[in-house]
Amino acid sequence: MPSLRDSVDRELLPQHVAVIMDGNGRWAKSRGLSRAEGHRKGAEAIEKLMDAALELSINSVSLYAFSTENWSRPPAEIGALWDLLCAFFDEKLPIMIEKGVRVYHSGSRKKLPARVCRVLDEAVLRTAGNKGLKVNFCLNYGARQEIVTAVNHWAKQAKPGESFSEKKMDEFLYTRDLPDVDLLIRTSGECRISNFLLWQCAYAEFIFLKVMWPDFRSSHLYRAIIEFQKRNRRFGGL
Ligand code: FPP
Repeated sequence: MPSLRDSVDRELLPQHVAVIMDGNGRWAKSRGLSRAEGHRKGAEAIEKLMDAALELSINSVSLYAFSTENWSRPPAEIGALWDLLCAFFDEKLPIMIEKGVRVYHSGSRKKLPARVCRVLDEAVLRTAGNKGLKVNFCLNYGARQEIVTAVNHWAKQAKPGESFSEKKMDEFLYTRDLPDVDLLIRTSGECRISNFLLWQCAYAEFIFLKVMWPDFRSSHLYRAIIEFQKRNRRFGGL
């Protein structure tokens, strides 16, 4: 019997997989642990996802790590997330460089602590020449904010009478170097998109998994891709 990994059709891979990593808090609560501990285990699951995506030679992965709406959480939880993010890049950046990963950041820098901007800048800069898996960390990200910012940037440099277009929108979004999302995965059983990559998901297939993010393993990615490969994507055609 072929393994799950061998059941993935390498000719029909999603180019861009976007992941809403939900359920860290519930995972922790069900074990009597702090929410910060849930996020810590969640950060470990990111490496598992990256390894599985690298193994399959997927082009791009976007990770929803902190939304523009997450500022309403208690400051202690937000601070723990920034600590975790900095520790994550301290530890994993050399590994990502070795594996050929290219790091991107999508989101507003406004309000992000200076130390977070520093680690993101370093990761983006030091992986800029890499040709492997693109990993897009969506931090202080909201799709509506992204779209409004893109339109404003375009308008500032547009010539009088010039009209806007879908192509121009693509060029002004944070994700300008990434393909459209083919597959969106959300963990934890919630079935909503929560202001994530709204423009880029126009023709994405959505897969909602019951697993809490800290329990996410390569097998979940393989199963999601196998399910994706069974879908009949018509892009509005017949
Ligand atoms: C959603 O779960 C998760 C987040 C808002 C944060 C995601 C962060 C990580 C996976 C780890 C840190 C990230 C990096 C890039 C190192 P939730 O807290 O809303 O869970 P709940 O819905 O069960 O409360």
